[in-house]
Amino acid sequence: MITQRLGASSLVGSRLAYGCWRLAGSEGEVAPPDVKTTGVRAVLAAVDAGYTLFDLADIYGGGESERIFGEALAQVPGLRARLTVASKCGIRKSGDPSPDSPYRYDFSADYIVSSVEGSLKRMGIEHLDLLMLHRPDVLMDPHEVAGAFVRLRDAGKVREFGVSNFRPSQVTALQSALPLPLAVHQVEISLHHRSALKNGVLDQCLSANLTPMAWSPLDKGRLGHGDAAPDGHPDAEVRLRLRQSLDAVSASVGISRAALAIAWLLKIPGVVPVIGSTQPDRIRDLARAASVSLDRDTWYRLLETARGARLP
Ligand SMILES: NC(=O)c1ccc[n+]([C@@H]2O[C@H](COP(=O)([O-])OP(=O)(O)OC[C@H]3O[C@@H](n4cnc5c(N)ncnc54)[C@H](OP(=O)(O)O)[C@@H]3O)[C@@H](O)[C@H]2O)c1
Repeated sequence: MITQRLGASSLVGSRLAYGCWRLAGSEGEVAPPDVKTTGVRAVLAAVDAGYTLFDLADIYGGGESERIFGEALAQVPGLRARLTVASKCGIRKSGDPSPDSPYRYDFSADYIVSSVEGSLKRMGIEHLDLLMLHRPDVLMDPHEVAGAFVRLRDAGKVREFGVSNFRPSQVTALQSALPLPLAVHQVEISLHHRSALKNGVLDQCLSANLTPMAWSPLDKGRLGHGDAAPDGHPDAEVRLRLRQSLDAVSASVGISRAALAIAWLLKIPGVVPVIGSTQPDRIRDLARAASVSLDRDTWYRLLETARGARLP
């Protein structure tokens, strides 16, 4: 798979990232008994398909996704050195650390540092290539975050830094206190979720040289399989038409509907879709999107269908 540099950083990753959120089972669903085996198999399938950028978070599967990823790394000698490993911190679930602790965000320096140490331990690795702040903490002190980043970088625990789900003004506020450039901004983008195209996030990625990473690029799978919206849902008709348009184009381009939805994202300058399937055949299928270049007319036709209206 072709690769690209992440922002102005020293990091290079595959054009598509592999997301490890679902390795320990999808949220709200009971994990199958063989979840570890299927998780390791998914990671190794992604490696074989050419993905070199892996996206994790301390909270995925309550830490289990990082453990499973670490198990995959341990199975292949030399694999760690070939991959760009990203994780996130800053979300604290209720009950952490005391039973009455609320669900919250925590960008205090000590918490950021201890979260990274936990991630490294679970994965059995010496450093993260990239650390992202998962969701903006309203109580963020940019100077305190800068102190944590410098501690982590100087200790050799994290090479580069990024953010996720920030508003552009929050990125600017944080960046102004940092002695190093942020490398990525990870936000939700798909044919269904297009707010980053309009809210300034992608504009800022261009102007500040941040690589945009697109999470849930298939709208949590709805663009891949049938039930995009239940009958009677206000979006049901638009979503049905979108699936039909994708199917018509995918037949002519020679890739699956889901891979076409990924190719649509890849046409947006710099965007790195984060693939979330745990099934090896889908992981391979979606990788084919990286070798397809949609023409402008097709891209805009799909946008128009997704909007349900012509552009102004
Ligand atoms: N920064 C953030 O706040 C944030 C939030 C959410 C996610 N993320 C990152 O983004 C990654 C991707 O998110 P996501 O898992 O929601 O992505 P997604 O690609 O939109 O959805 C993947 C889900 O769709 C299912 N699916 C159904 N049909 C599919 C098809 N034809 N092709 C592929 N998948 C299909 C998959 O099931 P199977 O496994 O059975 O294929 C899987 O459950 C995560 O792993 C995580 O790394 C980040």
